[in-house]
Amino acid sequence: MSIGNLAIFNNRAGYRAGIDDYLFEKLNRLSLETIVNREILKNTVKVNLKHATYYQPITCRNLKLLLNEAHKTRSSFDHFIDIGAGKGKACFYAAKHFKFRKITGVEFSHGLVKIANRNKLIFGDRNVSFLSEDAADFLLPRGKCLVFLYNPFNDVILEKFISNNYTHFKEYESLIAYAYDVHRETLLVNGFRTLFRSAERKLSLYQLRSHFQKQR
Ligand SMILES: C[S@@+](CC[C@H](N)C(=O)[O-])C[C@H]1O[C@@H](n2cnc3c(N)ncnc32)[C@H](O)[C@@H]1O
Repeated sequence: MSIGNLAIFNNRAGYRAGIDDYLFEKLNRLSLETIVNREILKNTVKVNLKHATYYQPITCRNLKLLLNEAHKTRSSFDHFIDIGAGKGKACFYAAKHFKFRKITGVEFSHGLVKIANRNKLIFGDRNVSFLSEDAADFLLPRGKCLVFLYNPFNDVILEKFISNNYTHFKEYESLIAYAYDVHRETLLVNGFRTLFRSAERKLSLYQLRSHFQKQR
């Protein structure tokens, strides 16, 4: 590992990458680990940047933990969807280590979607696709989804996303897997219940309460 890479691995908010992250990137010949800050995102994002965090990839360890917890609920998911997919790490990891029929990454930076698609050429198709869309306008597809969020944005966009997809969550009982869950309160006040939480890691899993009625 070069000095440059070491700096990247240590300069993170929240989760610190480990050797498994380094190996996942290198052995699959992907480009995932370099952080993209908001200054750079500005070049490829037109709206809602002020509500966004920035690109840093989830660690294999935390994603694995969350996906295992989601599978413990004995749900059968049609679709894994990463909202704010960046360069696609969570999608590739889910494709490699878990069985989902379909995997989609939604990302509002055209530049990052380009990198994710370049990664996909190397990784192979494996039912993974990337959409260049803003989460604030994105509608979840039919079927039970495992919706993954790694602290992509603030409560403003989270609230919009939930509100636009409220009917979906009610009909399909999809789950939200939230990493670095700093805006979890937004989910709770909008009718979601916690199925799992690790306070130490800030990882959690939610489902909309079946009898919850949204106030209009
Ligand atoms: C912390 S990164 C997580 C990347 C990826 N999910 C992972 O775990 O490796 C958050 C990502 O969310 C994206 N993002 C932020 N706001 C967004 C929005 N409104 N719509 C879509 N993507 C957004 C950012 O560009 C960034 O790539």
